[in-house]
Amino acid sequence: MHAEIDGERLEDHEIAFGFALLVAAGNDSTKATYSNGMWALLREPGQRNRLVENPGLIASAVEEFLRMYPAFGHFRRTATRDVELHGKTIRERDKVILSYPSCNRDEAVHACPHQLDVTRNPEHQAFGSGGRHFCLGTALARLELKVMVEETLERYPGMELVGEVDVVRSLFLNQPRGLPVRLRP
Ligand code: HEM
Repeated sequence: MHAEIDGERLEDHEIAFGFALLVAAGNDSTKATYSNGMWALLREPGQRNRLVENPGLIASAVEEFLRMYPAFGHFRRTATRDVELHGKTIRERDKVILSYPSCNRDEAVHACPHQLDVTRNPEHQAFGSGGRHFCLGTALARLELKVMVEETLERYPGMELVGEVDVVRSLFLNQPRGLPVRLRP
């Protein structure tokens, strides 16, 4: 708001759009990761029990939720120069899709990549991979998710699915394919 670099300050519209970006980027992202993580724990009570018995694992579980259910399916970027990658040529100005679910479940990197393992504490690219657009909100997102998971498990250590549950599929946020739309306990 108040920064001044080389005599220049942000204009009002830049501050307004920046604020909108923070609201949008910081809202659906953590919400989607939290709900996917909770849903995974409901389906895998053994993993839930490990967290209830050892809350010290929750930070690792948050990284595993981010790996398995990255909030964004993909972003598109434009190559700034020619690059050779795994035998393919990407030309300057080509549009490139970065698939976060794909790299986060790369079997060359993660053993049993489709299995939730709250002890795994994985490296992942849910926040990007360190380039200039790397997520600004990583620390806040990790803190929010850790606190939400801690509080949920403290209040509902034996949480389970009861009756029929409708699962809302989202077009915007990443969800793995093949999930049932209706669950029975
Ligand atoms: C689970 C939570 C979140 C995930 C998975 C996530 C993911 C991402 C990804 C993949 C990018 C693009 C990275 C790249 O292109 O290298 C990004 C950018 C960004 N994120 Fe997040 N994000 C999360 C939470 C947040 C929060 C809480 C905030 C702020 C309150 C935030 C603010 C931003 C902003 C401002 C950018 C754009 C940065 C830039 O272009 O320089 N994000 N995020």
